[in-house]
Amino acid sequence: MLACVSEPVYLLGIDTSCDDTGVGVVALTASGPEVRANVVWSQTVHAEYGGVMPELASREHVERIDQLLPQALAEASIELADLGAVAATSGPGLMGALLVGLMYGKGLAQALTVPFYAVHHLEGHVYAAATEENLAPPYLALVVSGGHTHLFDVPTQGEYHLVGATRDDAVGEAFDKVARLAGLGYPGGPAISAAAERGDPLAIPFKPPLQGQAGFEFSFSGLKTAALLAHQRGASAEDLAASFQRAAVRALVGTSVRAAEAYGRETLVVSGGVAANRELRAAFAQTGLRVAFPAGGLNTDNGAMIALAGAAALQARQTSSDLGVSAAAYVPLAPLPGGSAAAARRKAR
Ligand code: KG4
Ligand code: ZN
Repeated sequence: MLACVSEPVYLLGIDTSCDDTGVGVVALTASGPEVRANVVWSQTVHAEYGGVMPELASREHVERIDQLLPQALAEASIELADLGAVAATSGPGLMGALLVGLMYGKGLAQALTVPFYAVHHLEGHVYAAATEENLAPPYLALVVSGGHTHLFDVPTQGEYHLVGATRDDAVGEAFDKVARLAGLGYPGGPAISAAAERGDPLAIPFKPPLQGQAGFEFSFSGLKTAALLAHQRGASAEDLAASFQRAAVRALVGTSVRAAEAYGRETLVVSGGVAANRELRAAFAQTGLRVAFPAGGLNTDNGAMIALAGAAALQARQTSSDLGVSAAAYVPLAPLPGGSAAAARRKAR
């Protein structure tokens, strides 16, 4: 355990949970954590298959990670020996892909004899936004990506209560699928967002899903089907994009605002790839809540956010993870054995 933060403690963060190889460096200074490097290799090998091929993702992580580490160190202007801790995602994600970054991180920590922190991928996303505004809990955290649409209540650091999640498709997945059917390309989020600027958001009267109902769940598969029907009836790609985006954004914002009222929270952090969406950011700005988003480059999967979660664990003087910690493909944000959220709860007991 590192005793003080009078000079920067440099943390390396690694994320290989899906199809992005991310390596980042965070400096933990007396005034808090600062991202010093964020290097991401977004795999393109999957494009011809129309989805992520797990075995190809693992192989590509193996090939790239050795190149990304020196790049990240150079970007941060530090040497390997300057690292004071290493953090890596241990779940959830693709098993083989996770194992590459986790084993790499554990091996590096062992070789450098520095603490290792196993981090839950979603906790990394949450810290990417919270750190940007220097926020501490309590807050609500909305994680919106290609694989997740999760709303958590975070009463204290490291404590997560699931408030609501999607019943079916993740919102980013719906952006990707609607973009594909409209012929707008991949990844769908930025493509929909760009096309929507030229479309009429009121052209197709999509109903924002699950609004006016009790509870805080989300659902995007009905909206995706409605978009398919509108496309078959001849709606333009631009109107489809603008109308779909409007309905999806209204569902995310409407449910989050109701949850904030129900849980008595005035602050919300929004993260994950879809948090880059301009309409979403503009709609949240109208809510009266204090809303934090990640800085550029930290919305989508990256290693810096994992280093930020590790830095929070280090700052809170949490016990580092056992090097025996293994990867978990499916794991809820609360109990990650040996991980950062679990360590915080152990400490609070
Ligand atoms: O967090 P992320 O990199 O990966 C997962 O953990 O899934 O998120 C990727 C998702 C994709 O579905 C992509 O279409 C979406 O984030 N996305 C966006 C935007 N930029 C990326 N969705 C809406 N608007 C955007 N500007
Ligand atoms: Zn992610």
